[in-house]
Amino acid sequence: MRTDISKDTFNRQIDYLRISITDRCNLRCVYCVPAEGVHRFKSTEMLTNMEIVRFVRAASRQGVTKIRITGGEPLLRADILELIESIKELGIRDLAITTNGMALAKMAGPLKKAGLDRVNISMDTMKTDRYRLMTRGGELGRVWEGVEEAERARLYLLKINVVPIRGMNDDEVTDFARLTMEKDWHIRFIELMPVDHCGKWSSEARVKKAELVEKISGVGKFDLFEFRGRGPSRNYRLEGAKGVIGFISPISECFCQWCNRLRLTAQGRIRPCLFSDNEIDIRTPMRSGASDEKLDQLFRQAVRLKPDGHRLRENDSACLPAMSAIGG
Ligand code: 5AD
Ligand code: SF4
Repeated sequence: MRTDISKDTFNRQIDYLRISITDRCNLRCVYCVPAEGVHRFKSTEMLTNMEIVRFVRAASRQGVTKIRITGGEPLLRADILELIESIKELGIRDLAITTNGMALAKMAGPLKKAGLDRVNISMDTMKTDRYRLMTRGGELGRVWEGVEEAERARLYLLKINVVPIRGMNDDEVTDFARLTMEKDWHIRFIELMPVDHCGKWSSEARVKKAELVEKISGVGKFDLFEFRGRGPSRNYRLEGAKGVIGFISPISECFCQWCNRLRLTAQGRIRPCLFSDNEIDIRTPMRSGASDEKLDQLFRQAVRLKPDGHRLRENDSACLPAMSAIGG
């Protein structure tokens, strides 16, 4: 395995790959997919475990050490445990998953056993009725059970993703912040991004970091404790807290200059930037006998294609395709 990390045209080191393993989801969050759902790909259009693992091998030859499995909802994929096991066997240092938690209670132990290091759980509200509304049918109780089992299985660092939306769940920001007093979790507030067909979540619905910081400062002394790790999150801590509070603000505080990642979609396309449709197909070459060298070359081509940043600005009308297809 190579140890030197690939650098892109803007001198950023690319050592992180996010892999969407399914475009299916058992929820339909209001800011992620339209009520009527989105186009689903056929299962033959999805990469198989063997294909994913083969690509991960290429990525690790090019210096990737950190992998996150996403969806849709990754736990809906029946062969996920085998996939986790095979990826971990390749020597990936940091293997994580992002899940909505609905099926996590049963899976947390087996996932840990298969080699998963940690988990991010999306939970935008701690109110049962509101959760059902925001996810169009989800059961919050199941997510809490998932969180408990993830803790029990030591899938650490345990992160909770919260997308604050004005008038919907922004009254719970301090409740989420207070959780870190008792729990050594990482609560991360993700700025609402504009997604195709979910248009009514306009810029007014987006709650900016400054506003969140002000609210949380009412709970206690609240300070930045880490300027920036190698990820997009800006991390703060309430005085005396066990856990951490992070802010991911792609629009109001663009972090593109620190970007360290590529994405692989469930259909086998490398997406160099979440916000750009410029993708490289690896499924077709893989299914028509491409060599390992060819895969390495496609990886490097994707790294070179990474733009310096996205063009989304405040009040802009540009949109992302449904996040369930590209994994957030
Ligand atoms: N804006 C911000 N975050 C989003 N996610 C999904 N859609 C959006 C959006 N429009 C988040 C989910 C999940 C992560 C993978 O992406 O809440 O936590
Ligand atoms: Fe919600 Fe995530 Fe499913 Fe989108 S992919 S509908 S954000 S649970």
